[in-house]
Amino acid sequence: MDLEKLREIASQLKIGNFSRHIFLCIGESCCSKEQGELAWRALKDQLKERNLSISTGPSACYRTKVGCLRICMGGPILLVYPEGNWYGGMTADRIPEFIDRQIVQGEPIEEWIFAKNPVERVP
Ligand code: FES
Repeated sequence: MDLEKLREIASQLKIGNFSRHIFLCIGESCCSKEQGELAWRALKDQLKERNLSISTGPSACYRTKVGCLRICMGGPILLVYPEGNWYGGMTADRIPEFIDRQIVQGEPIEEWIFAKNPVERVP
């Protein structure tokens, strides 16, 4: 393992500066392949367009596409930390509103959330 190389990559990705981490499940047990890919593209585009993915501001987000979050229905499933809000049905058309309300304004969209598991920042 090349720890220095890993540190270099992490630095390039600005890991350590993010306020949120968004996981989007596009596994085929919870949505169609097309729905998942469209949602992922919308999430990437929205974060880039609003300068939320590489900025170091209070809303900066890291994003990760995953294959399963063990819910396996009603997807695409989206999970955002540190709030720990689990969203269902996050098709591409919902992504802009999610970015506006949850990420920019910090207001959860309760009607789309099916579970909560907030994580407190370790001092
Ligand atoms: S395939 Fe998406 S939660 Fe399992």
